[in-house]
Amino acid sequence: MKVLIACESSGRVRDAFLRAGHDAMSCDLLDTEVPGPHYKGDVRDVLNQQWDLLIAHPPCTYLSSSGLHWNTRRPGRAQLTEEGVEFARLFIEGSTHIPKRAVENPVGCLSTRIRPPEQIIQPWQYGADASKATCLWLHGLQPLKPTAWVPPRLVIYGDKYVMRWDNQTDSGQNKLPPSDDRWKERSATYPGIADAMASQWGAH
Ligand SMILES: C[S@@+](CC[C@H](N)C(=O)[O-])C[C@H]1O[C@@H](n2cnc3c(N)ncnc32)[C@H](O)[C@@H]1O
Repeated sequence: MKVLIACESSGRVRDAFLRAGHDAMSCDLLDTEVPGPHYKGDVRDVLNQQWDLLIAHPPCTYLSSSGLHWNTRRPGRAQLTEEGVEFARLFIEGSTHIPKRAVENPVGCLSTRIRPPEQIIQPWQYGADASKATCLWLHGLQPLKPTAWVPPRLVIYGDKYVMRWDNQTDSGQNKLPPSDDRWKERSATYPGIADAMASQWGAH
């Protein structure tokens, strides 16, 4: 299959599809972090070419639930959310010339502004000791099946037991310390999820 991985600089999903024998290319405004077929530039330059499968990871900074509360406090931020919604719409509702499409984003306003996702997955269902609810909007694709379950640790929080994974503090915050690259590390697709996409969606 000819596979376009939109908005990916890590190369993880692209390389999973290449390993599975597909003709895959990633595309991002940034360089690819590992060598491989990559278009550096605006995805709209290549989106209208012939692709069998599109997997898109549009920016979530102004869309995710964790940041939306800033929209009422920071001038101009609500406009960036609007632009983010329209960019994501290009992949969720547009791109209809591509028969199989998957769009990935954290829990946020796309569910109400465009439509609810077909599926919400967790890295701990795909071999990673990490929690991060990830929505998938699917067209022409089956929901992704879990491949390897990683159990949580149980911690007492307040007066009850709660489940936490290794990327979480006991209170449920993300453990990664602030850094220039924090957003990149947090947004890179987990390898087990990339492999599941390639083995399951690449097999259809
Ligand atoms: C949330 S990150 C996705 C990271 C991805 N999961 C990965 O593993 O690399 C969103 C990416 O979209 C890219 N991006 C934003 N606007 C774009 C555009 N118009 N065309 C291509 N890439 C774009 C950003 O540079 C950023 O790397």
